Amino acid sequence: MMFDKSSFEEMKKEIESLLEDRKDKFESICRYLYDHVPYYNWVGFYLVDGSKKLKLGPYVGEPTVHTTISFGQGICGQAAQTKHNFVIQDVSKETNYLSCSPDVKSEIVIPMMKNGKVIGELDIDSHYLSPFDEKDEAFLEWICKMVTGNA
Ligand code: SME
Repeated sequence: MMFDKSSFEEMKKEIESLLEDRKDKFESICRYLYDHVPYYNWVGFYLVDGSKKLKLGPYVGEPTVHTTISFGQGICGQAAQTKHNFVIQDVSKETNYLSCSPDVKSEIVIPMMKNGKVIGELDIDSHYLSPFDEKDEAFLEWICKMVTGNA
């Protein structure tokens, strides 16, 4: 698997144009990331429904049974509860983890914030071990800010 993370800068320009004129922003971001980064093998948004629960929103990848996740539950729920990014390089080492597919080896979750509250999150699963670094984190944080209009 070859990928040059310096492409993230070029991709940001294309993502900005995706966000400008699309009603289905969430969907188009998922599709774009899934198609352009070979180790982003499931890309989806969870949205907070107001009762400390995350509901699965638009995603691209295999269907998941985890369509509702309580705050605190799994990697997604922990990210929502703590308001911190979770970068898990090897999911097999996690005890509080909700598995979607045996193919998934690692996961990154970035909370989306509005007025100090978590309104949703961007969740990405990878079939590779340890594919994520601070470049992914910065890139995905930028996307979350653009999507929520905080940029
Ligand atoms: N693995 C996540 C569940 C959601 S799926 O990755 C789509 C978790 O532990 O919260």
